[in-house]
Amino acid sequence: MQSYRLEGQDGGLDRLAMREDAVVQPGPRQILMRVRATSLNRRDTMILNGTYPLTPRAGIVPLSDGAGEVVAVGDDVTRFAVGDRVTGSYFARWIDGRINAGLIDQLGCTLDGMLGEYAVLDEQWAVRLPEHLDWHEAATFTCAGLTAWSALTGADAPKPGQWVLVIGSGGVALFALQFAKLMGCRVAAVTSRAEKSDRLRALGADLVIATAETPDWGMKLREATGGIDLTVETGGPATFMQSLIASSLYGRIVLLTVQDQKGRSVEIPAAVYQRSLVTIGRVFVGSRSGLEAMLAAVAAHRLKPVIDKIFPFAEAREAYRHFMQGDVFGKVVIDGA
Ligand SMILES: NC(=O)c1ccc[n+]([C@@H]2O[C@H](COP(=O)([O-])OP(=O)(O)OC[C@H]3O[C@@H](n4cnc5c(N)ncnc54)[C@H](OP(=O)(O)O)[C@@H]3O)[C@@H](O)[C@H]2O)c1
Repeated sequence: MQSYRLEGQDGGLDRLAMREDAVVQPGPRQILMRVRATSLNRRDTMILNGTYPLTPRAGIVPLSDGAGEVVAVGDDVTRFAVGDRVTGSYFARWIDGRINAGLIDQLGCTLDGMLGEYAVLDEQWAVRLPEHLDWHEAATFTCAGLTAWSALTGADAPKPGQWVLVIGSGGVALFALQFAKLMGCRVAAVTSRAEKSDRLRALGADLVIATAETPDWGMKLREATGGIDLTVETGGPATFMQSLIASSLYGRIVLLTVQDQKGRSVEIPAAVYQRSLVTIGRVFVGSRSGLEAMLAAVAAHRLKPVIDKIFPFAEAREAYRHFMQGDVFGKVVIDGA
């Protein structure tokens, strides 16, 4: 079977090597998945570049996100049968409740991921897919989808009619936009590329601001909305101050990134923070039960993800390159081998 593996420490995309191995048969509690499609997340580029906080295993098969069918099961498997359509869970061992240090293994980082013809998964690491999704669509939810879902759900979930702010048009932001609309919220979106404004409106954004044209967009948003109730902050240093200004007095910011590619960190401006009772929190993607809850909502609403571009398996490096240049709208997908 063909798989890409991350080899060596340096070299960027040259580290991504195609390897041919024998197909592994699943152990007693494992399933063998024929991978039909995968997709990229920002963390995959950080793992490639050696900037991800969790150290990847040498020679790992990259990518947390993938969809495929079960083609063989071990003798003791009870959750799945041959023919089931499945995807993997990001923190494979985190089933429910709070995460702890024993549960940090991640697909495509410390555990082999999806960028291969087949993936062998413990049956506890996988979940069933909604039927309305094709393989490309089904391969996009594990990381970005669940992160957006976790940011928008839980005890402090925004209520129908409240304002949610999403930043840009990456994977997390577009899922957050779609899920917030499902929940009956109003959505404000900002983008660094004005030409994407119409597409954000077409996805349901009630208010869109191009940040290059309106650098003080925080105050504009605050005036227009009465204050943002929840911000899914994917911009980091470039956007955090304006997000804080845009927030309502008791607003909440789920801060998903604190550093940009140049190493600059988010700063909290004292003058703004002193006037604010905003809660700043974060999430770590989510557990398997969160993934199941999200996919149940996706199935009920027949929600489809936004796909930017699909690359053939043989052009995985091109897919990474396209994703890394930054001008995307939705998910970058790689076809199965
Ligand atoms: N903690 C967690 O669990 C977790 C999980 C997943 C992701 N994350 C983090 O969340 C971030 C987003 O992830 P992703 O996979 O969605 O990334 P992505 O696909 O790379 O999203 C990047 C988008 O951000 C927008 N952007 C960049 N600069 C901007 C600016 N100055 N103003 C407004 N928008 C700007 C761009 O959209 P426009 O072209 O429209 O401006 C770009 O498409 C990453 O930093 C990632 O590491 C954290």
